[in-house]
Amino acid sequence: MSGNHRVLLNSEKCIGCGLCASDCVASCIKIQNGKATAGQEGCIACGHCEAVCPQSAIVLTGFEEESESFNTQTRLDPQELLQAIRTRRSIRNFDNKEIDRDIVDMIIEAGRLAPTGSNSQNTCFIVLDKSKNELEKSAVKLFRSLTGIAKPFSKFLSRVDIDDSFFFKKAPLVIVLTGNSVNASLAAENMAFMAEANGLGALFSGFFTVCANSVPKIKKTLGMKRGEKAVTTLVIGYPKVKYYRTARREKARVRRV
Ligand SMILES: Cc1cc2nc3c(=O)[nH]c(=O)nc-3n(C[C@H](O)[C@H](O)[C@H](O)COP(=O)(O)O)c2cc1C
Repeated sequence: MSGNHRVLLNSEKCIGCGLCASDCVASCIKIQNGKATAGQEGCIACGHCEAVCPQSAIVLTGFEEESESFNTQTRLDPQELLQAIRTRRSIRNFDNKEIDRDIVDMIIEAGRLAPTGSNSQNTCFIVLDKSKNELEKSAVKLFRSLTGIAKPFSKFLSRVDIDDSFFFKKAPLVIVLTGNSVNASLAAENMAFMAEANGLGALFSGFFTVCANSVPKIKKTLGMKRGEKAVTTLVIGYPKVKYYRTARREKARVRRV
């Protein structure tokens, strides 16, 4: 977490209902003499206390954005959601059409709002802009040299053609996510869903992610710091391909213990 956050309690508004205390993951809030009191030690600034207070008696400081009130709970239709998950596909063929900036911002917003372990919010979203073509060229160069060596050992690599758009498939938007593996993956899935909700398609490029973590020149262009790890790369654009049926999947490996 970057900011300096504090839980501010308004004792005049507080009715001592205890909802904040029971929802505080770090047990920082106690009810004393019918009022909530907050200690800062161990607070992960998750904002649950402010969000759950029916009296608006709590403010969590140190963020650039305000907390927003809402009355109705948004619920997704379970069958529609499952159908959307079932029918989405990785897209590897994109239209040559730019994506509006407000849609790009909405996709990043969906990633920013994903949960993070200990509320660390440590995912970084690197949007490839002017450097996109140059980065793809560097990655193509690496893969062509690697596949030369690996071809005899890999059926996949012996068949695949590393063309100039092997990594980004001519998509207009590429975002590399760095940080913690689980956090960044959750952010990426939110982003892929948001892309799809906007009529876009997405591909997770594991191949480019490998390059981002192994080629010093690519790391430097991405502005990656020492120890910073690329977790995944989202390639996004308008699909040039339409699917008529679902792709078959193996049964879920479920273990009940
Ligand atoms: C972590 C991850 C990395 C992937 N990397 C690549 C990649 O580099 N190139 C590619 O063409 N597909 C890549 N894929 C797409 C998978 O091949 C694809 O998800 C899988 O075949 C299932 O197809 P579907 O996504 O259409 O359901 C990746 C998927 C994931 C989850």
